[in-house]
Amino acid sequence: MIRMNSHYKKLKASYLFSDIAKRVTAFQENNPGTPVIRLGIGDVTRALPQACVQALHKAVDEMSMDQSFKGYGPEQGYAFLREAIAANDFQSRGCAIDPDEIFVSDGAKCDTGNFQELFATDIRVAIPDPVYPVYLDTNIMAGRTGEFLEGRYQGIVYLDSTKENGFVPSIPAQSVDLIYLCYPNNPTGATATRSQLQEWVDYARREKALILFDAAYEAFITDPDIPHSIYEIPGAREVAVEFRSFSKTAGFTGTRCAFTVVPKDCRVFDENGDSYFLHGLWNRRHSTKFNGVSYPIQKAAEAVYSPEGKIQVKELIKGYLENAAIIRKAMAELGFDCVGGDNSPYIWVDGRSDSWEFFDRLLKAGVVCTPGAGFGRCGEGYIRISAFNSKEQVEAAMGRIAKALS
Ligand code: MLT
Repeated sequence: MIRMNSHYKKLKASYLFSDIAKRVTAFQENNPGTPVIRLGIGDVTRALPQACVQALHKAVDEMSMDQSFKGYGPEQGYAFLREAIAANDFQSRGCAIDPDEIFVSDGAKCDTGNFQELFATDIRVAIPDPVYPVYLDTNIMAGRTGEFLEGRYQGIVYLDSTKENGFVPSIPAQSVDLIYLCYPNNPTGATATRSQLQEWVDYARREKALILFDAAYEAFITDPDIPHSIYEIPGAREVAVEFRSFSKTAGFTGTRCAFTVVPKDCRVFDENGDSYFLHGLWNRRHSTKFNGVSYPIQKAAEAVYSPEGKIQVKELIKGYLENAAIIRKAMAELGFDCVGGDNSPYIWVDGRSDSWEFFDRLLKAGVVCTPGAGFGRCGEGYIRISAFNSKEQVEAAMGRIAKALS
């Protein structure tokens, strides 16, 4: 008899964004005359930068000739891309990251979800609340939690991110082994300061813990004082893994390319306290289960770092940040407290009512957002509005919301 992994029974029936998509489809079927404006899932809408498109075309042409055709590439990514990432994203900011500490992949969702495989089942895991659901769900699947009681999984140390702490959780009183952090934050759009991140790094060093730092929204940082990488924090090379993505930076959600940085200084320990290099473990996992991102896509990602690519990416981000400013202003004018939107494409709105109810009210008006409660208990009462759409659609959505709520 084939037996299931019973931990899957503890999961909510479906993934948050699938749940929302079902509600939106049902609404559209019942209201064919009201086309919805989607400011829900953080999916980009603007075309790939021209520099990436040109690089992609050129690489496809190379694949069409025997002399330049490529079969399997290195699982960790081609050197041309890893070198461009190391130089532009890290070394230029004074972070000593080498190309061979970078693992190219097809998404930060997969990497943040898969990374927990390297750790024992009985480690203590700290997860922010609200949170991008992948961190929690993959730990539930792996059996690191108990049952779901009063809105929380037993066995997880929740890091409450609330208005009171500026949506940056404080260090937990108890000791934990694995810590998930995401800045600029999904879903709140909040950022963490250098000294706040330093506290986490110092804590992880004291506890021999590890930080999984999701920096997928790094490109949206406009404030010069906000760190772009955890490796800008002294000591982080020993205790932090960083996840990055081209999805939101350069419109690659459908194209798929991301990377994870595993510094060679990070160690994990076995039951005897003997230490192992995390880099070697992730390399073993990655090369066993993954065969690399396709050559044309890696060439397109490399073009993000070309002089034209850099200008085009900046333009793309600027457009989304302008949308974010429109959303934040409109919601504030309606009397709602908001965070995010200044260094992030997400605006976290205190709806002062049940999240799903607020979601339904906006859906009735023809606007899709994301209910905060879907990200955790501390998200109750909030909604997340995404800036990923055209300016026209964002303005139209804000008009609909104003009409529906006033
Ligand atoms: C989100 O809306 O939170 C993101 O699009 C999810 C993701 O990047 O997987």
